[in-house]
Amino acid sequence: MSLLTQTAAHAALVAHTAAMADRPMRDLFADDPARFSRFSHHLPGLLVDYSKNRITEETMALLTELAEQRGLIAQRNAMFSGQHVNNTENRAVLHVALRNRSNRPILVDGHDVMPAVNRVLAQMEQFSTAVRSGEWRGATGERITDVVNIGIGGSDLGPRMVVEALKPYAQPGLTVRFVSNVDGTDIAECLKQCRPHSTLFLVASKTFTTQETLTNAHTARAWLVKALGEKAVSQHFVALSTNEPACAAFGIDPANMFDFWDWVGGRYSLWSAIGLPIAIAIGFERFSQLLAGAHAMDEHFRTTPLRDNLPVILGLLGVWYINYQGAHGTAVLPYDQYLHRFAAHLQQVDMESNGKSVTRDGEAIPYTTGPILFGEPGTNGQHSFYQLIHQGTHLIPCDFIGVVHSHNPLGDHHLKLMSNFFAQTEAMMRGKTADEARAELAAEGKSEQQIAALLPHKVFPGNRPTTTLLADRLDPYTLGLLVALYEHRIFVQGVLWGVNSFDQWGVELGKQLAKTILPELDSPAAVTGHDSSTNSLISHFKQHRK
Ligand code: F6P
Repeated sequence: MSLLTQTAAHAALVAHTAAMADRPMRDLFADDPARFSRFSHHLPGLLVDYSKNRITEETMALLTELAEQRGLIAQRNAMFSGQHVNNTENRAVLHVALRNRSNRPILVDGHDVMPAVNRVLAQMEQFSTAVRSGEWRGATGERITDVVNIGIGGSDLGPRMVVEALKPYAQPGLTVRFVSNVDGTDIAECLKQCRPHSTLFLVASKTFTTQETLTNAHTARAWLVKALGEKAVSQHFVALSTNEPACAAFGIDPANMFDFWDWVGGRYSLWSAIGLPIAIAIGFERFSQLLAGAHAMDEHFRTTPLRDNLPVILGLLGVWYINYQGAHGTAVLPYDQYLHRFAAHLQQVDMESNGKSVTRDGEAIPYTTGPILFGEPGTNGQHSFYQLIHQGTHLIPCDFIGVVHSHNPLGDHHLKLMSNFFAQTEAMMRGKTADEARAELAAEGKSEQQIAALLPHKVFPGNRPTTTLLADRLDPYTLGLLVALYEHRIFVQGVLWGVNSFDQWGVELGKQLAKTILPELDSPAAVTGHDSSTNSLISHFKQHRK
């Protein structure tokens, strides 16, 4: 049974959706004083409150049945046990092995992957320590002050997000930078901040064939060679990759190559050698704490019954809104400035994983799958797109992520921030009725005529779902917990929808066409091989470039 809509639980959920239509959350809260304890979960360091969702015990029971009927347990176990769950690429999916702090053997095709994982972790520890201590120096003997990670997609977004999120743990005097875009401005602006003598480049690319990364790496190499000569390359470039021959061809000493494996998906790779910029920025011990947090979530996901399993609960809530309540988008709203790249990272993890319209077997899917994910740190988002969430016509379930202890407890900033954090979820749940809005307008001294004109604009429908994730503090362990929670949530949703969450064929077509267009941009010949729009745009570009 490859479609979600073919299950008995689906039919029951359709009927239940109709029954829930006239049960706003306001009433659900009024009717049940124990609602918070019923629908919240506390792990060490992280409280998850999902009581402000359009659910009852029956909803959760039906959704859990749906998960069972979709074979979630078997598929979860298949992933953890190294089976080739990425069927279109015939690969295992084992980011959980990268952070398997228990060291329990995990077999892929009969071989335990843990010795290789531990070998690369040891290599990362040794190298990151040497860079941080000043033992590793540039070719002229200078200490490294700037580390530039050159990568894109999963070889950029994850480590960049983590380095930003854990900035309070960074070593003074050592700046970790990221270059990703093939737009020359990205690397040009970065190199303006660096000196060749004290800059170390990490070329991060699983395949070592990605156009953007190789273009930026060659530009960086030319910049370095111009200042320090060809011989300096091996001292200033290391590679994070699965492609050893291509790294060697670039001039990277194989001893300075940090390996990973085809069972690590790009968007799930921050736990692998791709995490080297993180280890350099915050130190290997803290990187290990990040892995430990993710491992704790893996163990929770692997062993907890579905009804109490956080990634399962959050995944089911997503499916509930997308497939039964008409939602197409979701917002992730971190109320911590250090998480300002969190939504950008999740955009890749979620949208590249579940942005699919055929099942694992290639059958067309007749229902909505992966949501449009967006987010900005609070309170910036409040002055931007929250209007649409509060009063627009789209249903946008939101995750609010906050921390009890700020890294920067300046005056009353944190209390103001958190008062907004709590107020927003309350406002979205409660809304404001016409009676409440009328009473407010009357109290402001408005005339009956003014009240009649303004009233429709002042009503908030409410019943807008939110889930609150409240961490004690944003430390490496908690960040590991959080990221792994989202990774597994996305897996759960992929299983329910029946898609392969671990391939990304959708990024190929644009790449292929760009390969055809690139030589045309530099050629004097007229461009005629495309549709009239593309031909004319390219011609316009060429004419105006002359
Ligand atoms: O965007 C497509 C993609 O294949 C991502 O999945 C991946 O994270 C990114 O390109 C970068 O690939 P690589 O690490 O091989 O350079």
